[in-house]
Amino acid sequence: MERISKREISLSKSHHHHEWSGLRAQKFVQSVEKLIKYRYRPFVKEIINAISKYGVRETPKIVDVGSGPGILLIEIKKIFENCRLIGVDSSKYMLEIAENRVKEQNLKDFAFKLGSAEKIPIEEGQIDVVVCLNSLHDFNDAQQTIKEVSRILINGGLFILKDKNGAYPKWKMRFLFIPLIFKTGLKRTIKYFKSNKLWLDPDQVIQWMSEFGIRKEEVHYKMDYLIIGKRE
Ligand SMILES: C[S@@+](CC[C@H](N)C(=O)[O-])C[C@H]1O[C@@H](n2cnc3c(N)ncnc32)[C@H](O)[C@@H]1O
Repeated sequence: MERISKREISLSKSHHHHEWSGLRAQKFVQSVEKLIKYRYRPFVKEIINAISKYGVRETPKIVDVGSGPGILLIEIKKIFENCRLIGVDSSKYMLEIAENRVKEQNLKDFAFKLGSAEKIPIEEGQIDVVVCLNSLHDFNDAQQTIKEVSRILINGGLFILKDKNGAYPKWKMRFLFIPLIFKTGLKRTIKYFKSNKLWLDPDQVIQWMSEFGIRKEEVHYKMDYLIIGKRE
């Protein structure tokens, strides 16, 4: 990955973050709604597999950090009825959209909290599973976020994380460029690849996890990496 300075990262992030406004949130939902089948349901499957493999309490509490429009949590609930779901997001617009979706579908056991991933508004040792999709690279401080995830998890709790792989070989990414233009259009494709300066190296993420007492159980290195960790 290209080396970029911390200042560059924070500049590009502050610009980025400014934009999680009402309009951007609306646009985001419109674009990801088409991806429920391709993006969210496969991840739900991986989450449910991990839960059955590593085990959780009977009525587990699941937190989604950077939950956005709440699609992931809603899709989890459709398959795994017996759980309590909490979404945390720093954009009140996103939370509003998520709350409306849950209300429209008449779903129970949901809570949404306005707050930051770096200071999760949940007491320590309460949560069975923390999930996070396409968001860690977007936060201001990924390391601090992992520290917080570790704090809110119970002993033996799971952290299931999926995000863009910053260590994915550039030459492999080139192969994906053309098909992505056909799928999502040129403008969105360029935007997508531009954001790759912010993507994290999964091995770096695993190191932070181990620093804060989350042991790596599984890692899958693709264009999107998947990490399953267990709080010790
Ligand atoms: C790319 S979206 C992904 C949303 C959701 N995980 C999904 O896949 O549909 C990133 C989300 O992270 C939220 N976010 C950005 N920075 C945050 C922070 N520091 N703390 C909490 N949420 C944050 C944004 O408001 C946005 O909803």
